[in-house]
Amino acid sequence: MSIVSGVIIVNIVRKSLVAASAVLSLALISQNALAEFKYTPIEQEVKAPNPELKIESANHKFADKYPKQFKTWADTSKSTALDSVNEEDPRTVVLWAGYAFAKDYKKPRGHFYAVTDVRNILRTGAPGVTGDAQPMACWTCKGPDVARLIAEWGEEGYFSGKWSKGGAEVVNSIGCADCHDTTSQDFAEGKPALRVARPHVLRAFNKLDKEFDTMDRTDQRAGVCANCHVEYYFAGDLKQVTFPWEKGVTADAIEAHYDEIGFTDWTHKLSKAQMLKAQHPDYETWSLGIHGKNGVTCIDCHMPKVKGADGKVFTDHKIGNPFDAFESTCANCHDQSKEKLQDIVKTRKKEIKDVMLRLEDQLVHAHFEAKAAWDAGATKEEMEPALVDIRHAQWRWDYSAAGHGGHMHAPDVVLHVLGTGLDKAADARTKLARILAKHGVTEAVKIPDISTAEAAWKAVGIDIEAERKAKDEFLRTVVPQWDKEAKEKGLLPKDEK
Ligand code: HEC
Ligand code: HEC
Ligand code: HEC
Ligand code: HEC
Repeated sequence: MSIVSGVIIVNIVRKSLVAASAVLSLALISQNALAEFKYTPIEQEVKAPNPELKIESANHKFADKYPKQFKTWADTSKSTALDSVNEEDPRTVVLWAGYAFAKDYKKPRGHFYAVTDVRNILRTGAPGVTGDAQPMACWTCKGPDVARLIAEWGEEGYFSGKWSKGGAEVVNSIGCADCHDTTSQDFAEGKPALRVARPHVLRAFNKLDKEFDTMDRTDQRAGVCANCHVEYYFAGDLKQVTFPWEKGVTADAIEAHYDEIGFTDWTHKLSKAQMLKAQHPDYETWSLGIHGKNGVTCIDCHMPKVKGADGKVFTDHKIGNPFDAFESTCANCHDQSKEKLQDIVKTRKKEIKDVMLRLEDQLVHAHFEAKAAWDAGATKEEMEPALVDIRHAQWRWDYSAAGHGGHMHAPDVVLHVLGTGLDKAADARTKLARILAKHGVTEAVKIPDISTAEAAWKAVGIDIEAERKAKDEFLRTVVPQWDKEAKEKGLLPKDEK
């Protein structure tokens, strides 16, 4: 452990080896053969506790002073629909086999539900009942208590340990102190005082040669959404949230960075490919799209300025679908009717979905074909190039699919990434067909029934009933304890259920 300008650096692993092995892994990849990914964490700061940084994370404390912002913020609770992606599209169960996303992955809903939903999702398991499956990092985009805890405990104190450590602490959903310096004089005077308080986000802007505090107001507006609506990974033994923006924010640039450091999220259960899971690169794709390039930010569409009952203009904090507030969003800049623009967006969504599903089908086949090749006796050396293609093809699919508004934010970018993904998947399947033939398999590889999520869970060996039962018990016994503790600490209002 060493101290450099007041910052404790501990998350460096074998510093001297980093450069050497990065060069080595790069050489292997450029040959596109025998590219096995051996993860070598990058050198990274670990911020010490910062008692100077005061963060008021309890959302309810702002209700009286900022009634309009508070009420519209609370209205995100009106977006209740919680659709299961696994059930809507069971191919995803196969694509994520061996990884928790195969159990449970849902579309996003209102910010109000972030804490509830991370507790409820099967991916976080049932600590206190069956086991504490995930790291602390899984709380990181759920609310302002995270910024508070990092300030109080430092990054090492926050990120170390399992998910349940934060159960009675991260209880306020995405709120005021995630985006504002709520203790500043400006904020007290009703000004925005936008702030990013998560050190890993400030560090990520530096990778793009930006500094949050000196950005212009337009950049800062989009910057607060980049707290969470981005691609990230959990770096090093500490599982520190890190944005992979060293080479840029495109799918190609991020993939190249992950390959260079040898990062892998998990090994696929069927194909044994070393996979990457994309999170939700909304900020990245937006910045590459036509609106991003023209300085039209998330705020112009998702948080428009509106007139209150008192006739005064304020920022509508009900973040949701901008078409619901068409007159104060799109119509500020476009002359077309709502129907016309909505139709354009709908058509693009449909066209992108069509290509996306084709890529998913190719990937499902590739995973089962790779499994068949292993079963037929293929060697690691034979398989490696095809598995790298699978890794890259699925990364491209996920980068396009996981940013839920991609069809609106940057349809051209998303289509291009999907197109290159189809190309990689075709490469993988051509290689696999040769390997299979060499080992005597010339018939098409059969895909089991994956027509429903139930069938797909069975096909990849997930006991969904056991998972659900454990979760129910956890929600009944552990979570009420967490809320009770949080109320005693004043993090939640006393009367809240
Ligand atoms: C996801 C980010 C985000 C969250 C959460 C958020 N705000 Fe804001 N807030 C903004 C943005 C962006 C603006 C507008 C900034 C600008 O105009 O440049 C804003 C503006 C404001 C302003 C300035 C006046 C106005 O209406 O433009 C106040 C006051 C405010 N917010 C209060 C709150 C309170 C209180 C909460 C919690 C209940 C909250 N905000 C939650 C992002 C957020
Ligand atoms: C602290 C993290 C965080 C910040 C900051 C944040 N978001 Fe989110 N956002 C989330 C999470 C998590 C969800 C999913 C919540 C759920 O489904 O439980 C979400 C959901 C959404 C949704 C879907 C809402 C719905 O009703 O379906 C939109 C749109 C969105 N965010 C836009 C934004 C914009 C625009 C900003 C910046 C002004 C922003 N978010 C800032 C974490 C964040
Ligand atoms: C030009 C307007 C515009 C800008 C700029 C914009 N969005 Fe969106 N966004 C939309 C629209 C419209 C939708 C809904 C598309 C639809 O109806 O299919 C959407 C959808 C989303 C969704 C998916 C919501 C869901 O429930 O699936 C998220 C998340 C999101 N946007 C976040 C962001 C973030 C973060 C930024 C900035 C980095 C941003 N948006 C910039 C217009 C915009
Ligand atoms: C703050 C201004 C602003 C807002 C708000 C805005 N746009 Fe745009 N939009 C632009 C600009 C600027 C362009 C680029 C125009 C050009 O290059 O000719 C653009 C281009 C477009 C295009 C054509 C480019 C393409 O993608 O092929 C569509 C479609 C579009 N916007 C839809 C929307 C929708 C839908 C909304 C609301 C959800 C919206 N815009 C909100 C400024 C805005």
